[in-house]
Amino acid sequence: MNIDELLKSPPKVHNWTNDGQLTSSGLPEAVFRFMDKVLTPQTKSVETGAGISTVLFALKGCNHTCVNPDDEENQRLKEFCKENGVSTDNVTFVAKKSNDSWYELKDQAWDFVLVDGCHGFPTSIVDFYFLSLGLKINGYLIIDDTHIITCALLKDFLITESAWKLVEPFNSKTAIFQKVAEYDAANEWIRQPYVVTKTKELEDAKKPLSMDFASRAGQHALKMLNSLGLKIVTVQKLI
Ligand SMILES: C[S@@+](CC[C@H](N)C(=O)[O-])C[C@H]1O[C@@H](n2cnc3c(N)ncnc32)[C@H](O)[C@@H]1O
Repeated sequence: MNIDELLKSPPKVHNWTNDGQLTSSGLPEAVFRFMDKVLTPQTKSVETGAGISTVLFALKGCNHTCVNPDDEENQRLKEFCKENGVSTDNVTFVAKKSNDSWYELKDQAWDFVLVDGCHGFPTSIVDFYFLSLGLKINGYLIIDDTHIITCALLKDFLITESAWKLVEPFNSKTAIFQKVAEYDAANEWIRQPYVVTKTKELEDAKKPLSMDFASRAGQHALKMLNSLGLKIVTVQKLI
């Protein structure tokens, strides 16, 4: 099996519909093509969640860890690989939620990390935290579903961090980053440009309007009413 065959006939492993029909999910094709280019049998990879990506990691012979609590999916993936002559000898399936595996995944020397398991708050962000601790410099990180606020936040944050280079946004759904320098995942907020900027925006939004701005806004409103031929009615003070 090669990547073209995999993308043409992807494994249907997810039981997500009410009618019991199994479905495929997966990353955008361009992301799979990128993975096909950079993954090798020397790659030590990890993903949260499972699906087409898992087969691709196996197909490329990576030393791969797949963390997915849905063991029926894992079994279907193993069967799909067997039927298609793809060895899973180098794939370790951890049939647990990522949040029950964070400490075993921490500090391993990963070359490639895919975060695509639970997308709720804070799981995807903490998945990133623990998996990025071991990611080697020049290693890759993929965050899928960046249209979801948790993943969007992580993407926007990493764009402002100098240790991370956005290799490809590809589209609004998936972001690929490369870790280009040592990274302190537990840095204090004051040294994180995204957090500093967003905090300032929050503070600014809470400040009362300045008198100057308020009076200019009032004059503008009066002009508008006049131009519409409307009269000002005095509103009596109730207190
Ligand atoms: C969108 S799918 C992954 C698709 C896959 N990357 C692909 O290319 O086809 C999401 C996966 O996350 C798994 N999942 C859900 N909650 C999880 C959790 N807490 N930890 C790890 N995986 C989880 C689901 O069982 C499912 O396999």
